[in-house]
Order: sequence, then structure tokens, then C-alpha cells
Amino acid sequence: MERTENPADFHRQVQKMFSDIAPRYDFLNRLLSGGQDRYWRKRAVNRLSPKEGERFLDIATGTADVALEITRNFPQGSVQVVGMDFSDKMLELARQKIDALDKAASIQLRNGSAEDLPFEDNSFEGTTTAFGVRNFSDVDRSLREMHRVLKPGGRCVILEFALPRNAFLNSLYRIYFEWLLPRIGRLVSRHPSAYTYLPQSVASFPIRNEFSILMEQAGFKNVTFKELTFGIVILYTGLK
Ligand SMILES: C[S@@+](CC[C@H](N)C(=O)[O-])C[C@H]1O[C@@H](n2cnc3c(N)ncnc32)[C@H](O)[C@@H]1O
Repeated sequence: MERTENPADFHRQVQKMFSDIAPRYDFLNRLLSGGQDRYWRKRAVNRLSPKEGERFLDIATGTADVALEITRNFPQGSVQVVGMDFSDKMLELARQKIDALDKAASIQLRNGSAEDLPFEDNSFEGTTTAFGVRNFSDVDRSLREMHRVLKPGGRCVILEFALPRNAFLNSLYRIYFEWLLPRIGRLVSRHPSAYTYLPQSVASFPIRNEFSILMEQAGFKNVTFKELTFGIVILYTGLK
């Protein structure tokens, strides 16, 4: 699956792939990251720094882990999060988790595409996207959409995978990421290519300064990035 294909085909293939792996998605996240994925999302929500009365949009919410993290320390309904994803299967699992944690008063789920956000201009104090942006069929347009739906001064927080800069760590990590991870992923998810697509899509996606420039071109100010866990994940932030 290549982003260079027809964008509409790529969009549909990504949608199908995530729907196919949805039932094993959370389990594989914990397993393949050694539990680090929770820490990455916590760091992202710390940077977002949510406050009572604010409203957030979590784009490509998947099973709603970021949305749940945003609401974790707040009483029912005192912050509002819309979790949006284009996979109904993912949203179904998100719904079960939200109900089990009694968070339905704080998190609303909605089907939609990152390239065409179904929200008015200036609607949210913050937008988040964790491990989603690399999969969007039109990254520039999705970034402009994030900027559009933010209120002036609103915060954008993006988490995405990268490869370590240090040559030694890079070589070690690539053995894991490009050889072992696809095999474990295939075995557990029973999907033939989703966990091969993961390292391939990371290797071909703009990271660090290159991605920060895309955020600036979409209109974001004060764009920064921070490396997490030896640079295998990057936390990007920007302001409208
Ligand atoms: C790697 S998962 C990340 C899920 C979640 N944010 C997390 O932290 O676990 C990527 C998610 O993005 C969704 N997605 C990918 N492309 C999308 C798009 N163009 N519009 C909306 N959702 C998209 C997929 O359905 C999937 O649930």
C-alpha cells in the first residue's frame, strides 16, 4: 500500500486495514511498544494541557485512548472531547471502552475523515492526532483542516513515529521495527500486511523539521517538536 497511489484508493485501503485489525489493535499496541504507547499519549495530553470547560477534537481516535486520557482527571462532562475516526469498527471498540469507564458524558464519537473535518471553523480549544497523520491521504489538507477548526490561540498536538537519529540506536531499532515487529504483528493480527505497512509508512513520511515545516505551511505558529523514547516517537505542537 503506497501513498503515491490514487489518494482515494489509498484512503479506502487504509480504512479497510484499520477496520480489519481493530479487534487486536489495543493488545498489539501494548505488546509491540512494551507499554510505552500509554506514556506517549500521556505526554501528548500533558502538552495539550486541558482545562475545565474546554472542547477538544481527537482526530483518528481509533479506540479512543487519547480521548480517554484527556478526560481522565476531570469530573464527568467538565471537558468535552469529540473522538473522530473513519473506521466504524474502531469507533465500536471506542464506544465499549468509553461506556465501561463511564465517560459517555465527556466523549462523543463521530465518523469522519481527517481530510474533510465535519466541524465549523473555530470550534475547539485543542486538536490531537496520535499515530494518525502518517496514514492520511492528503496530509497538507488535513493539517489545514486541523488549523481551521481550532479557535484562535488553540493548541494542536500530534504524535507520530520516527526513527532514532543516533546511528547505533537506529540500526538496533530497525532490526526490531522492520524485521521482528511485522512478524509478531502478522501472527497476532492475522492481517497479511498491516504491520509491514507500519515501518514502511514511517520510513517514507516527513519527520522532525520537515513535518514542522508542513505544520507552519498549514498556518500553525510556534511549532515545536520533542523526541520521546530515543526519538522513536515525536511529539509536535503548534498554535493557531
Ligand atoms: C494507528 S491508529 C491510531 C489510533 C489512536 N489515535 C491511537 O493513539 O491509538 C490510526 C487511526 O487513524 C484512523 N484513520 C486513518 N486515516 C484516517 C483518515 N483519513 N480519517 C480519519 N481517520 C483515519 C484509522 O481508522 C485508525 O483508527
